[in-house]
Amino acid sequence: MNQDFNPLKSKQLFAHPERLSKESAWNEHVPFAMLLVELQRPRVIVELGTHCGVSYCAFCQAVRETGAGASCYAVDTWAGDGHTGPYGGDVYQNLKAHHKQYESFSQLLRMTFDEALQQVPDESVDLLHIDGLHTYEAVKRDYNTWLPKMSERGIILFHDTVVTERGFGVHQLWRELTPSFPHFNFEHGCGLGVLAVGKDQPEAVINFLQTANANASTTRELFSSLGRRVQAEIVLADMGEEKRVLSPLKITCRNLCKLLLLRSGFLRKS
Ligand SMILES: C[S@@+](CC[C@H](N)C(=O)[O-])C[C@H]1O[C@@H](n2cnc3c(N)ncnc32)[C@H](O)[C@@H]1O
Repeated sequence: MNQDFNPLKSKQLFAHPERLSKESAWNEHVPFAMLLVELQRPRVIVELGTHCGVSYCAFCQAVRETGAGASCYAVDTWAGDGHTGPYGGDVYQNLKAHHKQYESFSQLLRMTFDEALQQVPDESVDLLHIDGLHTYEAVKRDYNTWLPKMSERGIILFHDTVVTERGFGVHQLWRELTPSFPHFNFEHGCGLGVLAVGKDQPEAVINFLQTANANASTTRELFSSLGRRVQAEIVLADMGEEKRVLSPLKITCRNLCKLLLLRSGFLRKS
């Protein structure tokens, strides 16, 4: 029986994310990622494009906290692409250290998306997140090559659905695909498209999509405020770090000024 989605019944929506990064454009979608795992209870999750792991670790944390029992795969060369630019091996090492806690059900596949195709059986993936290179050609290719991997319960997430600059073309593919499948598009955090490609979706997912589409602006407002809360945590943590680094410098500066004033005779020794 179809029921309205009730956010107050979710634990994951308000969970405290353990992996955020000021480098990532994904922070604001973490509440939805964790909710989706709770609603869908996927058996296999694949992410194409992981970088520092904000989106991927949100899936993993929710899998652990909900006991969803999914097998998870993060695919990335961890070398960067035309939009992220190249980056160093420290990004992978840092993620690997954090990811250790998820090793019983998750693997970091350091390879290209095409190479990873051989590792994943057809019709097995319940949740696929496409977040590699964002040109129209690249994202369309990722979609076409991975679509046969999707299960009857399959959902594909596309990041950056509202970005139209720097050669981003996800918005174009999103427009082409949405007439064929149930979907919802979040417009905050560069946009996140949810496309239900499988014909046999869990009831909780159907309820979510129906409620979201029937109340689109309230749903967008709710998720964007939850996203802003997550982003604010990063800014606060950053300010704390700045204060920690600047405090000793301030003391040194004050002492230097005092010394200069003493030397120039403007100040007497007390
Ligand atoms: C936008 S970042 C991913 C952001 C990440 N989802 C997050 O939560 O912040 C895109 C990543 O995709 C990877 N990438 C792009 N094309 C790829 C390909 N064909 N094979 C493997 N990795 C690729 C890049 O190395 C880069 O780390």
